[in-house]
Amino acid sequence: MRNIVLVGFMGTGKTTVAKELAQRLKREYVSLDELIEKVEKKPITQIFAESGEDYFRALESRVIKEVSAKENLIIDAGGGAMLRRENIENFKKKGILICLKAKPEVILERTKGYKHRPLLNVSNPQKQIEKLLWIREPYYAQADHFIDTSQLSVEEIVGEILEILKKYNA
Ligand code: S3P
Repeated sequence: MRNIVLVGFMGTGKTTVAKELAQRLKREYVSLDELIEKVEKKPITQIFAESGEDYFRALESRVIKEVSAKENLIIDAGGGAMLRRENIENFKKKGILICLKAKPEVILERTKGYKHRPLLNVSNPQKQIEKLLWIREPYYAQADHFIDTSQLSVEEIVGEILEILKKYNA
């Protein structure tokens, strides 16, 4: 069966939804961020601080290539995973790309209590969120399906994804 890849900006609900979906469908959940941390044996904030974003992105692409060769997975992708064309191509080989979206104010609310996202550890996270959303829009637009999670519960989001999957018999 094709992989289901949840992509989209930080704070749109990818991790929570992917875990719930995996449970519902009795399929394996894979977090790319967790795999990267396992490979490097350090948290993402430390990878960014010590080696920089380019290094992280290269590692992310490597992990995406490996994971995308498998099947039947629910993949929880990091918010920047769509920024490289090769990643999108790898995801699409065996996967259905579902992009979760949310309004900037909702993203701010959902992310503000956490410090594990280096790109949002800035003095004005709201501005940063708006800027990155604008820059990334054309990349996220390459997903196959889109769900705005701003007003939805996890249950409702999972329900929408199950509807989408019916079309694929996946
Ligand atoms: C990033 C998103 C993060 C993580 C890293 C970079 C991004 O994942 O991969 O901090 O560039 O948007 P989440 O979207 O799971 O927070």
